[in-house]
Amino acid sequence: MTNPMSNLCQAMNQHGLVRFARHFEEQFPDAHMKDLVVDALGAQREMFVLGRKVINFGSDSFLGLDQDVRVGDAIRRGLERWGSHNGASRAFASVRTNLEAEEKLAAWLGSDAVLIYPSVSLANMGALPGLVGRRDLLIVDEHAHNSIQEGARIAQANGVRLVTFQHSDPADLDKILREAAGFRVAVVAIDGVYSMTGDLPPLQELNEVALRHNAVLYVDDAHATGVMGPHGRGTVLEALGSYDNALVVGSLSKAFSCFGGFIGCPAPFKRLLKMRSNTYIFGGPVPPPYLDAICTVCDILNSPEYDILRGRLHDNVRRLTRGAERLGLVVLGGSTPIISILVGDEADTFRAGNSLFERGYYVQSVTFPAVPYHAGVLRIQVNANHLPEAIDGLLAALGELQEHIHLETRRAA
Ligand SMILES: Cc1ncc(COP(=O)(O)O)c(C=O)c1O
Repeated sequence: MTNPMSNLCQAMNQHGLVRFARHFEEQFPDAHMKDLVVDALGAQREMFVLGRKVINFGSDSFLGLDQDVRVGDAIRRGLERWGSHNGASRAFASVRTNLEAEEKLAAWLGSDAVLIYPSVSLANMGALPGLVGRRDLLIVDEHAHNSIQEGARIAQANGVRLVTFQHSDPADLDKILREAAGFRVAVVAIDGVYSMTGDLPPLQELNEVALRHNAVLYVDDAHATGVMGPHGRGTVLEALGSYDNALVVGSLSKAFSCFGGFIGCPAPFKRLLKMRSNTYIFGGPVPPPYLDAICTVCDILNSPEYDILRGRLHDNVRRLTRGAERLGLVVLGGSTPIISILVGDEADTFRAGNSLFERGYYVQSVTFPAVPYHAGVLRIQVNANHLPEAIDGLLAALGELQEHIHLETRRAA
């Protein structure tokens, strides 16, 4: 007998993406490696999963600060001071550490003000619909992160004109802005680092186009926060020299190893975003203990120690990219700690990930729809607390892999 719940479940099962995911699960039951359960972690990225110890090359904690005793101590201090959560939307009240964390973040970032959200996704889904209205234009890079696309769809449902431009193409952006007559202002939403491939947008060119057409850049710099630019301030200040025409989104959950997201903006925008972001008004904030940890990480990033951490990360990234290039592999990215090795075929991508796992290294097998069809990659995230031996071991395993799985090579690509 059917009932509404089972009908709903059946309807969800018919969704294209669910059928697609099931197909992969059935086709590669032993190699799919998604939805993993981790049983324990070590200080140098050891991970115990599926009954074995592997080195984890799938962590966004690029600086290794998740294992830093000062960050753990700050969380414990915050817990003692504030308890485990805020208990209300920040629209009503925020703990003082929230303001301290925002001030510290703004001082570190070099922006006028910062507003913290519970995550980058919620920043994008709250701020984008809040920034633009019916008479405005929102233009989004076709490869921008899912949360930008979701935020844009909410804005569109509210009556905003939404257009997509070709990935990182200033000429296409220029054409769209020239042809879209009659808008009040425009916002151009892009990623600062495209997280599936590690590629960077041409920020200066895009900003020049934006300025010519009364448009503001909105840059989701989640993957650059803490790892790009002086003191890890990200890509925008370094590329543009100022935040005069850019709103910057950063992550507190990746290199920061804490929790949340933020927008760096002029002070008047902070007030406006508080009033206009539904995800800020109608939801709970970052738990207070993490705000103490955010303050601690700001101090670390602002100190001379940052260069040591960044240097360690840089050495590890270079060791891996150089080694992979010596193997003749097609290495995508490399200017950030996200490095993708092109495999191509979907089945080979899963098999390759599984084979590395068997040899003691976990990397992410990424296939369509996250990357184009037949352009599957092994996505490797390098961290400052990976030991050089672990990088060399992964390179040796990649070398062995080439003997039995087809990986694209630079000659063939
Ligand atoms: C560019 C970008 N934006 C947003 C997110 C999501 O961030 P959060 O987990 O804070 O929602 C990611 C996650 O990887 C990302 O790469």
